[in-house]
Amino acid sequence: MDRILIQGGVPLRGRIEISGAKNAALPAMAAALLTEEPLELDDVPDVADVGTMRRLLQMLGVETRHPAGHPHRLVLHCPQVIDTTAPWDQVRRMRASVLVLGPLLARAGEAKVSLPGGCAIGPRPIDLHLEGLRRMGAEIELFGGYVHARAPSGLRGAVIRFPKPSVGATENLMMAATLARGETVIEEAAQEPEIVDLARCLVAMGAAIEGAGTSTIRIEGQQRLRGARHRILPDRIETGTYVMAAAITGGELELVGGRLELLGAAADRLAEAGVRLEPTPEGLRASRADGGLVGTDVMTMPFPGFATDLQAQFMALMCIAEGAAMITETIFENRFMHVPELARMGARITVHGATALVRGVPKLHGAPVMATDLRASVSLVLAGLAAEGETEIHRIYHLDRGYERLDQKLAAVGARIERRG
Ligand code: UD1
Repeated sequence: MDRILIQGGVPLRGRIEISGAKNAALPAMAAALLTEEPLELDDVPDVADVGTMRRLLQMLGVETRHPAGHPHRLVLHCPQVIDTTAPWDQVRRMRASVLVLGPLLARAGEAKVSLPGGCAIGPRPIDLHLEGLRRMGAEIELFGGYVHARAPSGLRGAVIRFPKPSVGATENLMMAATLARGETVIEEAAQEPEIVDLARCLVAMGAAIEGAGTSTIRIEGQQRLRGARHRILPDRIETGTYVMAAAITGGELELVGGRLELLGAAADRLAEAGVRLEPTPEGLRASRADGGLVGTDVMTMPFPGFATDLQAQFMALMCIAEGAAMITETIFENRFMHVPELARMGARITVHGATALVRGVPKLHGAPVMATDLRASVSLVLAGLAAEGETEIHRIYHLDRGYERLDQKLAAVGARIERRG
């Protein structure tokens, strides 16, 4: 199994191209199920999760291809839905597989999607997706580990108020509503930039959507959607991760295509923590401020709050900051699996429930560590880049799910990083 070896202590310098956002690409790919015409997506990142979604869509009847010479352009074409089942083996690999539920139901009138079950970062149920679809007239039953959903006479518009915002549920319902009869209103909708990006894609396909990016989204259902071309927005989590790679190594990186406004509150917390961030004509530049890194408290929140997907990386940064930082995770349970691994590298962290208290140390030390989920793994990479000596990271398939050519991008800016089989 592949592992990554890092010799730490090199300040990173240079430019890194930011890829398209994985979390925007996955729902946009699922949207191809909504029309019999081709959907052309640009800036689709070459990551394992995109491959998983592609295989699932192919099983459902979507032809997919990369036009020659355009590795990041993906054309998806679903003349007819040939199967309406998302099997356990796909959903188990990637929870975002449940994003085919809304589109399948809207286009084919039925869907059978495996329940995702538990995952490393908590139970992560899909009750909000199902309740919303029920309100739109779907009949939903759970048996044999599967969601069986039917809408024999089509979906109808409804007012859906979530008890709390969910990115995936907002996306599933927004897609389902594009082909429902009448108007759907989603209240307490998620406001993440990936929601806005999906809405742009759907509007290009002929959907009528207002309010994406606010807490209330209105969708007027259409008879049919058409093909379109859409460019996926840059990955804000990849951007934030490389911002912290610059800061933790005391280097300076220009992140080409990165956009400051997509970082939301994380941009302010990073600035407080001693990270200099400035826009450039092509993206943004990140470095460590003269005063050095300073312990800074953060609490994860839905966008525009501090992203849970940047929590582990921020914790790595705080490990070598001056003073202490209190990091509170409010979105997912059990999202501190990087803590014991960081501790093996010399970090001083105490966890109480959903809060981790990080007391900064002058240096981390390289060690063999284990990746546990996508963002936890990359926090170990950051720690390894800053640590003295060698860090060996195992189970890096987690990294490949969401970071395009991570080792190559880092090596190109000076990191001594190597992948070994
Ligand atoms: C998406 C992102 C993930 C990110 C997360 C939060 C994708 C592919 N993944 O995940 O990287 O960490 O948003 O920004 O875009 N919940 C329920 N019932 C539901 C759905 C969610 O209780 O039916 C809970 C979850 O357990 C969690 C919270 O709501 O506590 C938010 O989850 P959600 O926004 O749905 O996350 P995902 O869409 O799974």
